[in-house]
Amino acid sequence: MRVERAFVVMEGAFGLAPGGSSANDAAMRALPVLESRMAVREALPVPPAGWGEGALPLLHDERGRVYRYLRLSVTDRCDLACVYCMPPGGEHEHAVRRELLSFDEAAQVVRTFTAMGIRRVRLTGGEPLVRKDVVRLVELVRRTTEVERIALTTNATRLSELATPLRRAGLDAVNVSLDTLDPGRFAELTRGGSLEQVLAGIHAALDAGLEVKLNAVLMRGVTDLEAPRLVDWAWERGIVPRFIELMPLGEAAQLPRDVRVGADEVRARLGARLAPEGSLEAGAKDHGPARYAMAADGSGRRVGFITPLSNEFCDTCNRVRVTAMGDIRACLASRRAVSLRDVLRTSAGDPERALSWAIWWALAGKERGHRFLDASADEHERVGMSLIGG
Ligand code: GTP
Ligand code: 5AD
Ligand code: SF4
Repeated sequence: MRVERAFVVMEGAFGLAPGGSSANDAAMRALPVLESRMAVREALPVPPAGWGEGALPLLHDERGRVYRYLRLSVTDRCDLACVYCMPPGGEHEHAVRRELLSFDEAAQVVRTFTAMGIRRVRLTGGEPLVRKDVVRLVELVRRTTEVERIALTTNATRLSELATPLRRAGLDAVNVSLDTLDPGRFAELTRGGSLEQVLAGIHAALDAGLEVKLNAVLMRGVTDLEAPRLVDWAWERGIVPRFIELMPLGEAAQLPRDVRVGADEVRARLGARLAPEGSLEAGAKDHGPARYAMAADGSGRRVGFITPLSNEFCDTCNRVRVTAMGDIRACLASRRAVSLRDVLRTSAGDPERALSWAIWWALAGKERGHRFLDASADEHERVGMSLIGG
């Protein structure tokens, strides 16, 4: 089905449900639109007659990609400010509380997604563990939705206290961001973070029985020599380490190109630890884009590589994103969005019917993929990684 699409750049991107306004909102809307990293919202057409009667369609787009995995951001705030992710002092635009999806709204969104085929949910941020009562959200999603697996991507600063409650609430796994094992370098890269706190968080997650993976974004001249140490450290603890190629999104687009370190280079640096050559193996069904190399010693240990630049994976994209403000974002590299929050707050009648149409429409016309290597494209440079959740 093809539908004409209208594009609406919301002022400061803080489009409100009809009737809403406050001093806070007015102050935010006064921010310069051109610098905004927030969503570019599309107006939603009315659903076709009969939409939502009977079973909902499985989520797919016009290119035949089927969606099974939802990345749900729960806050646009973070307690760290990594140099490739946030400007100094953090992003200057943030949602105020009533602009965020409430937990009940978020659970309704997840229920609708699962009715359309989504099987896994990953909570993201900003830093998801700074959202007040996030454990209650995990419990609510576990109890009131059909989702098979709930994971979370975190910087682990608050994991020491939260790992056990999160596990009890129904969380299955955490992916922890960690680029260096040097405390001084960690503090510099995160603009003030404590490595000790993060390592304690990782150990708490393991003790709580959560599956743990490590995400490292290496930068030439800063952390590129750390790959072997990170792998050994992770393997000793039963953790799967993964290396992510730095994407030129938002803040990272300001960095010189030569800081980027490709997966081939990291593999070469890991030398004899990995089985020689051989292609990388895809991860488990319905998971993310990482592909894995096996350890040379036959132990079954693995190293993951996420290669948006050296080996693009857009043709097999199975992921859909919803931001903390409830914008559905079809592609990480684009600001195009439809506000599910506004649909929820303004539609009368069956929320599943209205939401499912908005979700279907937002994904149907999704772009082919990112254009990170296309010099004439700059849309991705306006994407705020911490505002969308990676
Ligand atoms: P698993 O399912 O456990 O493998 O998780 P994941 O890799 O999907 O999630 P995680 O939050 O750990 O993401 C790791 C990195 O992969 C982050 O930098 C994400 O931004 C990036 N990533 C995940 N999905 C996509 C995607 O669809 N496109 C792009 N370009 N990057 C992605
Ligand atoms: N490119 C690749 N990965 C990034 N991350 C943050 N910014 C970028 C970027 N520009 C990673 C974080 C975290 C995950 C959610 O995304 O390190 O592991
Ligand atoms: Fe999917 Fe967009 Fe990521 Fe490509 S860049 S894999 S299309 S989210």
